[in-house]
Amino acid sequence: MKIGYIQSAPVFGEKQQNFGQIRSLTEGVKADLLVLPELFATGYSFTSKEEAEALSETTEGETARFLKELSVKTSATIVGGFIERENDRIYNALLIVSEGKVIDTYRKIHLFNKEKLWFSPGDKQLKVYDINGVKVGAMICFDWIFPEVCRTLALQGMQVLAHPSNLVMPYCQKAMVTRCLENRIFAVTANRIGTEHRGEDHFTFTGASQITATDGTILSSAPTDQPAIAIIEIDEKQADNKWINYYNNVIEDRRTEFYF
Ligand code: ACM
Repeated sequence: MKIGYIQSAPVFGEKQQNFGQIRSLTEGVKADLLVLPELFATGYSFTSKEEAEALSETTEGETARFLKELSVKTSATIVGGFIERENDRIYNALLIVSEGKVIDTYRKIHLFNKEKLWFSPGDKQLKVYDINGVKVGAMICFDWIFPEVCRTLALQGMQVLAHPSNLVMPYCQKAMVTRCLENRIFAVTANRIGTEHRGEDHFTFTGASQITATDGTILSSAPTDQPAIAIIEIDEKQADNKWINYYNNVIEDRRTEFYF
């Protein structure tokens, strides 16, 4: 399977311009799975809940339409972030889109920092999708700091994790080595670059999008300050082998009677 990330530099509130960046980066690109950053169409640093609401969409909105177009153009399943609106709630969510159709959304279950002021916490179960025979799971950015998320998806058979991100702390890329190693999965962390200075907040996003293998090897690492795209061919079946030596299996050896 060919998996990849797209690392862009979203401009706050400028959806069409942000779609344009992705269109240029994916010119002539074909893949099986492409992961875009968290909130790639809107930007990240809201100054009020109303501002986030004004940029929110349903699964019929312009971001979904753009991702449908991208999935057809690249022949890839696309996973990318958006603000999902349902009834009177908004969520920091992602869309999974394949062959011009929306497959599902996932809503971030661990909100970071002031996201707690704008978004409702995710209310959908963690789920693994069969994408042309490959088991793909998804989480959003700060979900990484809770090892339970990757483990829950790995226990459902996930082979490849799609991980849209807007990282501002320096730890995640290193932590994903451990997440992959402890679950023997592949992960695609798609981060953004650039800065946003809005209201009292000043964020610098760390780039360095990363594809990590089941043994913790970093297969691709993007620059910290440039847009980027990388596509890597992997054998996803390696993720089905949970043995790290003759005696140790990272799933079967768990001693759940000792865990809370
Ligand atoms: C984050 O969850 N966007 C840091």
